Amino acid sequence: MTRKGIILAGGAGTRLHPLTLATSKQLLPVYDKPMVYYPISVLMRAGIRDILIITTPEDQAAFKRLLGDGARIGVNFSYIVQDRPEGLAQAYLLGEDFLDGAPSAMALGDNLFFGDGLGAKLASAGQRTDGATVFGAWVKEPHRYGVVDFDADQRAVRIVEKPSEPPSNYAVTGLYFYDGDAPELARQVRPSARGELEITDLNNLYLERGALNVELLGQSFVWLDAGTHESLLEASEFVRVLEERHNRVIGCIEEIAYDQGWIDAEALRQIAGEYAKSPYGQYLAAAADRPPRGTPPAGGAAAAPSGPRLVAGR
Ligand code: DAU
Repeated sequence: MTRKGIILAGGAGTRLHPLTLATSKQLLPVYDKPMVYYPISVLMRAGIRDILIITTPEDQAAFKRLLGDGARIGVNFSYIVQDRPEGLAQAYLLGEDFLDGAPSAMALGDNLFFGDGLGAKLASAGQRTDGATVFGAWVKEPHRYGVVDFDADQRAVRIVEKPSEPPSNYAVTGLYFYDGDAPELARQVRPSARGELEITDLNNLYLERGALNVELLGQSFVWLDAGTHESLLEASEFVRVLEERHNRVIGCIEEIAYDQGWIDAEALRQIAGEYAKSPYGQYLAAAADRPPRGTPPAGGAAAAPSGPRLVAGR
């Protein structure tokens, strides 16, 4: 069965108040495009064309205005609301009908991934038909995340959510690949002390089955979750520098659609025309004048092979 995608873009965004009083966090700008473009670009790079967008009830209309049904970029966006932010694993209860037994990949709407080799990691996670794959990144402040506990042989033995004494510096990032059992396993997850259905508990259920694959992202990888004022600004600055250096737009969903062969040059030129006054549109127009690359840019990203080495974290 073809893998489907979920973008989890609900939540109250309270850590960004007052920025998020009138709009969704995941629609805020990260330099030259809305934040949600970045995780969508990661799913598209994984070859996923059928994507469910989960939002708050108030914000759904704005997401639809931005993304529509996806046809113009050769994908299919569906929408569902999450009434209250009751946890990441709830996405698998809400998304059960959409998934209809298919394997999936879920990306959090505020997570950004950049780096060489992401395409290969996405491809190998996508090919695994049984079990789950999560990605671990080294961070300075692991107590803010789900953290991987390794045994002496560097095998993951459990994931701990926001531990006061983190067992390692490897955080589980907001990109999860699951087989078709995820909704059924999510039903076994009970609310945590903070009242949420934790994705960490779902991951531990896979781990207990011996079916959780933890892929570590190397030090040349950058993972950001743009959930605070500092990390939001940091993400914008990071994207600006990379785009200027490499002359490639990161997280450019229209270009990825073209490079994947999902839309042709004419369709890309049409979109470019609509954005003609912005540098983003001008970039798309130039892309439509070259042949599709077949392999889209890394991380939905621009990093050239000799790009700067950057350490993940915020
Ligand atoms: O960013 C990675 C981390 O995400 C993981 O390391 C943790 O294991 C995982 O629990 C999660 O931690 P956070 O505390 O950072 O999650 P947060 O509550 O910020 O939610 C992440 C995103 O998901 C955010 O964009 C809002 C959205 N969300 C969150 C909840 C709880 C929803 O759409 N619905 C929800 O119910």
